[in-house]
Amino acid sequence: MYLSASVEIAREAGALLLRFLERRVAVEYKGEYDLVTEADRASERLVVERLRARFPSHSIVAEEGGGVDGGGDHVWYVDPLDGTTNFAHGFPIFCVSLALEQRGEMVAGVVYDPVRDEMFTAEKGAGAWLNNRRLQVSRVSRLAESLLATGFPSHRRHRDINVYFYHQTAMLAHGVRRAGSAALDLCSVAAGRLEGFWEFHLNPWDLAAGLLLVAEAGGRSSDLRGAPHQLRGAETAATNGLIHDELVALFAEIFANRIRIPIPGLGSATTDEDR
Ligand code: IPD
Ligand code: CA
Ligand code: CA
Repeated sequence: MYLSASVEIAREAGALLLRFLERRVAVEYKGEYDLVTEADRASERLVVERLRARFPSHSIVAEEGGGVDGGGDHVWYVDPLDGTTNFAHGFPIFCVSLALEQRGEMVAGVVYDPVRDEMFTAEKGAGAWLNNRRLQVSRVSRLAESLLATGFPSHRRHRDINVYFYHQTAMLAHGVRRAGSAALDLCSVAAGRLEGFWEFHLNPWDLAAGLLLVAEAGGRSSDLRGAPHQLRGAETAATNGLIHDELVALFAEIFANRIRIPIPGLGSATTDEDR
């Protein structure tokens, strides 16, 4: 019941986002580089209204502040538009993400990509699905053969250390994508399209649904040091499980300032012999 309600609501919110995308929206700033649009707010209003109508006693934690405290055992995490910067530029990678926590345990999650009409769903113990297809993480077992994704926060981005993690990892794997929607990145791990994902400073609404998908597709998550993942913690790593230890071991070296791949001098990177 919870999953089918989330699917309906996410689909409706996704359709609304597509209508806003066609006519392009004005950009506003929440922080120096943190964007928000009319579409984020309209999508959140719709999702919160629908959830409240169906589940009046449930609490809602929603990114744009439209949540409510129902005081009970059920909490919804709502990202009404994950990928706002992409959306504001008309770059078509974004989604709606909804997840339900019951007595501290995530029990249902939905991530809807309206551009590709991809509905990612998961229920605790019942697997992860893309439309009607069951999802399974990839079988790649070496970091060197992996495609990964990460993201960079817009808040206080001058203090972000992830570029060092990005550099080392990109040199040691097939590549690292920065598509701009953490929820979709996690779904790609669940779908076997990526072997792993990491990011600093994500929020519960970015993660709640996607992490359930990863777990139900057979993957693994932790913080960047391999300790159990905390929904409100500062670090997230999620992988197909097979490359997890290797990725965390690489991160340990970077945290300890033992850089495996030297950072080239800026001048040397542009000489003829590099062509
Ligand atoms: C952002 C996206 C992005 C990630 C940022 C998030 P928003 O969410 O998930 O991929 O790198 O850290 O804040 O602001 O577009 O909902
Ligand atoms: Ca988000
Ligand atoms: Ca958002």
